[in-house]
Amino acid sequence: MSNELKSAEDRKKTAVYPGSFDPATYGHLDIITRSAKIFDKLIVAVISNPNKKPLFSISERVKILKDTVKEKNVEILSFDGLLVNFMKKKNAKIIVRGLRAVSDFEYEFQMALTNRKLHPEIETVFLTPSEKWTYISSTLVKEIASLGGNVRCFVPPIAEQMLKTKKRNSHRGHREHSEKKNKEFITL
Ligand code: PNS
Repeated sequence: MSNELKSAEDRKKTAVYPGSFDPATYGHLDIITRSAKIFDKLIVAVISNPNKKPLFSISERVKILKDTVKEKNVEILSFDGLLVNFMKKKNAKIIVRGLRAVSDFEYEFQMALTNRKLHPEIETVFLTPSEKWTYISSTLVKEIASLGGNVRCFVPPIAEQMLKTKKRNSHRGHREHSEKKNKEFITL
């Protein structure tokens, strides 16, 4: 099809920003804001079943993003399976990934080249967040929250609240579990 015949929708530059977002941090949100300014449309693609077991369910991870992201040209979706297959379905050829430090490079380089091998038309572009977010990671945020630390400066308020709820529930779960174990021991 010639360019003239392509519909305005087809000519839109759609980019996909995939990730686990477990939970989304201000670093992720910074990359979303920057990407939304560069591309006509941005799909934030939240992986349903990441390799690493997530703390938050897929609906919780999507909710945090939906409640926080305000840009009109950003859509938050979940996906399963190969990223390139999701991209084909969405007619998108650009993957956005955030690069915080040199330590991210090897993993990102490997993923970019593998995705290109799987689908040669796809390009990965890397954006750097503001330097104030370069050291944050969802993993560290979860560790701090689980140990009772303050994560307000790293994640949006809804994620902070949800992390607190997870901690409360896990305490309750542990208490109930040890009470049950004690009862079993006493009745032996
Ligand atoms: O936030 P993350 O955990 O670094 O994101 C990793 C993600 C989701 C982008 C990556 O694991 C992925 O694309 N998974 C989908 C399965 C797939 O396509 N694997 C081959 C990628 S090279």
